[in-house]
Amino acid sequence: MSTDPTPPQIDTSPAWKALQRHAETLQQTTLNQLFAANPQRGSQFSARSSNIYFDYSKDHLTEQTLALLFDLADTANLTTAINDLFDGKPVNNTENRPALHTALRSGGQGKSGVDQEASSVLKQVCEFAEQVRQGTIRGSTGKPFENIVNLGIGGSDLGPRLAVEAFPELHLPSIHSHFVANIDSDDLSAVLPRCSPDTTLFIVSSKSFSTLETLTNANTAKTWLREAGITEQDIARHFVAATGHRAGAVALGISPERIFPVEDWVGGRFSLWSAIGLPLAITLGPEVFKQVLGGAQEMDKHFCETPFARNLPVLHGLQTIWHINFRDYKSRAVLPYVHKLRRLPDYLQQLVMESLGKSTTKEGLNIPYPTGQVIWGSEGTNGQHSFHQLLLQGTETTPIDFITTRTAHCEASSHQQLLSNCLAQSKALMQGKSIAQAHEELLTKGASESQAQLLARHHAVPGNRPSNTLLLDELKPHSLGSLLAFYEHSVYVQSVIWNINAFDQWGVELGKEMGTELFSLLNAPESDSARHNQLDSSTSALLAYLHNSRPPR
Ligand code: F6P
Repeated sequence: MSTDPTPPQIDTSPAWKALQRHAETLQQTTLNQLFAANPQRGSQFSARSSNIYFDYSKDHLTEQTLALLFDLADTANLTTAINDLFDGKPVNNTENRPALHTALRSGGQGKSGVDQEASSVLKQVCEFAEQVRQGTIRGSTGKPFENIVNLGIGGSDLGPRLAVEAFPELHLPSIHSHFVANIDSDDLSAVLPRCSPDTTLFIVSSKSFSTLETLTNANTAKTWLREAGITEQDIARHFVAATGHRAGAVALGISPERIFPVEDWVGGRFSLWSAIGLPLAITLGPEVFKQVLGGAQEMDKHFCETPFARNLPVLHGLQTIWHINFRDYKSRAVLPYVHKLRRLPDYLQQLVMESLGKSTTKEGLNIPYPTGQVIWGSEGTNGQHSFHQLLLQGTETTPIDFITTRTAHCEASSHQQLLSNCLAQSKALMQGKSIAQAHEELLTKGASESQAQLLARHHAVPGNRPSNTLLLDELKPHSLGSLLAFYEHSVYVQSVIWNINAFDQWGVELGKEMGTELFSLLNAPESDSARHNQLDSSTSALLAYLHNSRPPR
């Protein structure tokens, strides 16, 4: 791989330079000014797909900004890159693989060549799920399963957990699902007492089948079953695996007919649509799983067929480029005003930050411009009583995605409250309150002139803070699928502009390697000063402290 320090093309392109110049001219323009200048701005700077309304008007974007961003997209050959993704070209170049999560939801109709294979795995997963739901597949004592425990982490946990928690009303009452990710034994320990060994099914979800957390938890689960008197032979009846490493699952004792394949062309954070979705298929039912896939497929179609000016993921992806590279915003808050979508920020953290946290181009050149974005957030309205203070009055500008539903997903009156709070927050962030307004208000409320003078600056809100509002038509499996695919494609758009590989995650490997080394040092009977001396002095001192303070064995 080249180590040539030549800067990559995109930031030297005329389109990039034009955006830089344009950003400078727009620097002093406020959102209030943009709205005052164009009464149609709200409807003009919005777009919709079949089930999502996307308002991006509360952002420093003009028609010219969009035109320049589309030029940038053309410079980066975005249209070709979208076709490459769906055609199964090796867009994951460091692993020489395609990224075909879209084939998993194509209903066998895609053009990548793996669509039939994807449909056949989906069929197997759905059949198995249905048999568990019906009680035809049972535990070792012949009782139907009452608890399923997903053992997986990262992409093998976050997507199924989000989807399962989003639709509690669709859960089969006879089966409870649990998710255990952490290597911290307290995670699994909190779940096991709620389960009975003879009616518990463990799903080992791991594409690689080499993830320490998942394998540790799977082995603990086996021990738990064994200690409950389930024979070695019968333990396999309490396990199923979703993995790309069949031999690893067999070695753990999982029956071959209970191993559902996750192909290497599916990235972990894009794997909800694969056999990794098994917990969803069992808990919510195969039909619901298919609705989630259908919603994602609809967004795929929208992404492929809609002109950029109305294409939700393209608009969102380009807007993010605008934010990061031309307005210097470093993070994005994702605020679902839907309690049932409270896991969404966690899910998007992995999707966005593992995909785009890169500093080399696909060809291995250093990237001289910022990429990636810190994603954070939590459910509304809770955040209003905590971190919104910083969003409203802090010194850093953080763009926000407000997400809620057009039709009530909860009690009608509570939905109205959510909607009004959501709209109020984006309005307050945009409009703010001037010192003069605050001063006037204080006087009206009875403050003395000197009090009003003192407090007005504290009560003033700068405003001019950008946010998007995404309105799902309704909270349904179908719209969740669309929403997640929307973010996946926005990520892809950003990666194409930056010329980075969104589908590998080499960085995380280093921590895993060092973790193994430190585990061995930590567990050595004696503090090994020779090996400690090879470490940095911080790690070495911490290890020595831990060794010296541990109780004698
Ligand atoms: O460590 C990062 C990662 O590889 C993610 O990309 C992945 O989703 C997660 O770990 C779990 O991996 P696996 O499914 O192979 O256990």
